[in-house]
Amino acid sequence: MIAAPMEILRRKKDLRTRVTAWHMAGLTVGMVPTMGALHHGHLSLVREIQKYVDKVVVSIFVNPKQFGPNEDFDKYPRQEAEDIKKLTEGKVDLLYAPQPEEIYPDGFLTNVSVTRITEGLCAAKRPGHFDGVTTVVTKLLLQCLPDVALFGEKDFQQYTVLKQLTKDLDIPTRVICGKLIRDPDGLATSSRNVYLSPDERRIALEIPKTLKQVVQEAAEGILPLQQVLDKAKRHLMDCGFREVQYLEIRQSDDLAPVTGKITAPSRVLVAAVVGATRLIDNMPIPNVPAQPKTTS
Ligand code: PAJ
Repeated sequence: MIAAPMEILRRKKDLRTRVTAWHMAGLTVGMVPTMGALHHGHLSLVREIQKYVDKVVVSIFVNPKQFGPNEDFDKYPRQEAEDIKKLTEGKVDLLYAPQPEEIYPDGFLTNVSVTRITEGLCAAKRPGHFDGVTTVVTKLLLQCLPDVALFGEKDFQQYTVLKQLTKDLDIPTRVICGKLIRDPDGLATSSRNVYLSPDERRIALEIPKTLKQVVQEAAEGILPLQQVLDKAKRHLMDCGFREVQYLEIRQSDDLAPVTGKITAPSRVLVAAVVGATRLIDNMPIPNVPAQPKTTS
């Protein structure tokens, strides 16, 4: 069966007109912001948000403000024709694919910044990254005014920051989290996985394996958490990673560091570099594990 054509808009005023018409007709609207190069992870967010709303908008915008000077903005995969095909098959109602001037017109001077939870983890090695994300997502949400926006668990810090942002700024959009999707071999699906050589991919697979091991050991509570994390970091380096940027356990609701025992829902988060590719992943730790044994 041939899927119905999807509407494609490139101007914020046209987006506003369409979404306003939907709202006037009593329909609810959901938005999934992306940077394109769409994969199973993005498409699972589309399927998830379709459960909550009547109409789904996906945006594709490779946001220059969230890439550092030595990052991959220029080589970030851009494949709009393939993306349009996938979104059409996924029954998305509208693709919003603005030109840069539509988001950052001449004379643009504003920066949106969330504090505290944007420190550490991904921010440590990517200064300015989260300001880029919060600035563009504020603009996308205000241009669209969706009832619901969905962000992936894969970028767990980003999801936490964006939930805080909409709450703090009274943006009338409910932010929800979509499950992390993995490739069949266990690697978290990412637009950047295309950069990996077969050898690098083999090394990359140690990330999910190591996270599982950390989750198991943290839940068992036999070794102190720091020892569990140090051992896991050493393992990743021994496997051939160039750098482990962070491997930490944080509380899931506010990203507060967990050092002693786990007393609230928490997760282990990692960023590691293999070859020239930076990969991130995270896994939840079952709540209220056995307490670490103390020696007297
Ligand atoms: P992008 O990397 O394209 O991701 C778009 C959305 O897809 C994000 O919410 C991300 O967490 C989610 N996603 C990516 N891989 C996933 C996976 N394997 N499983 C589940 N969800 C996954 O994240 C961004 O773009 C940008 O920072 C953006 C929010 C669009 C702002 O520019």
